[in-house]
Amino acid sequence: MRSHILGTGSYVPKQVLTNADLEQLVDTSDSWIVERTGIRERRKVAPGEACSDLGIRAAQQALAAANIQSADVDLIIVATCTGDSPLPSTASLIQYRLGASRAAAFDISAACCGFVYALSAADAFIRSGQYRHVLVIASEVMSSVTDWTDRNTCVLFGDGAGAVVVGRTEEEDRGLLSVHLHADGRLSDLICVPGGGSSFPASESMLAERLQYVKMRGNETFKIAVKTMEEAVREALAPHNLTMDDIDYLVPHQANIRILKAVGQRLGLSMEKVVLNLDRFGNTSAASIPLALDEAVRAGQIRPGSLIVLAAFGAGLTWASGVVRW
Ligand code: UT7
Repeated sequence: MRSHILGTGSYVPKQVLTNADLEQLVDTSDSWIVERTGIRERRKVAPGEACSDLGIRAAQQALAAANIQSADVDLIIVATCTGDSPLPSTASLIQYRLGASRAAAFDISAACCGFVYALSAADAFIRSGQYRHVLVIASEVMSSVTDWTDRNTCVLFGDGAGAVVVGRTEEEDRGLLSVHLHADGRLSDLICVPGGGSSFPASESMLAERLQYVKMRGNETFKIAVKTMEEAVREALAPHNLTMDDIDYLVPHQANIRILKAVGQRLGLSMEKVVLNLDRFGNTSAASIPLALDEAVRAGQIRPGSLIVLAAFGAGLTWASGVVRW
């Protein structure tokens, strides 16, 4: 028995923030942002719209696509670094609002790799026989940790959510074939939000130092991202004796088009096989893979039988990959 993705969903808030809008906030330009990142616009929540609000909409779509009732969900995992509040979990809030009263609920914190980490957890629960239907949601309100005065970071991130329903399959050659997860905590300061937790709890001085916002050493991160994403894809294929030619689509974390082009080049993988949406949504952290996956499924690009590789990289540092025969 294997786990399999039974349905996908996604949601992005309505408000579009273009590069021209950001030119009004910081010393930047549309041409710099497009050339250096590939991003043209991103979404931003309305006041009062939180992580759970985006996540629940993505989840409802995924449940409808899978033809599963919320009452039949055994577990809800939310991957996020921008949950509604530190306590309780965003998964609990969504569990109540979905009416998934039988489901256990918890959040996973693995930054941009959160979705692949959560998928791996869902896979383990299903293969062990403990649960039948696991709802995996990745939802991020990156605008809530964005410093709108810092041009190094504010042009990169966006808000959005994606979700999948994971269930069982008895079919030999379908489903989630494998997942690989990695972390290297020595590099935890490359991307971080220093304040708001127990090391720098909310205080006037914490706010004055702007520690509640994401900090990133972009250039160093870039180089490691290219290397680890390449390794992650190779590691994903190796146990199955699959080659690059076998891949129908790579669905990567969407951080920077130059990272993805470099990874494609090193792997010898045509960019036509790389699912991209960062031009419209920017870097939505954990949400970026399920958001891209849902778009590709709804567009009919990913079809039953397609071989999909997921690859992510992010704060922690973490990196991760997975192989799915759709
Ligand atoms: O999702 C988690 C993983 N995150 C990533 O993988 C992100 C990885 N990093 C990146 O995508 C890129 O490093 C960035 C897009 C963040 C930056 O691109 P870069 O080519 O590495 O630029 P840089 O940081 O080396 O900066 C080059 C120049 C600097 O100016 P000086 O010092 O050469 O005068 C920056 O101040 O570009 C400047 N710069 C900007 N200029 C206009 C930085 N941000 C901007 C901006 N607009 N928004």
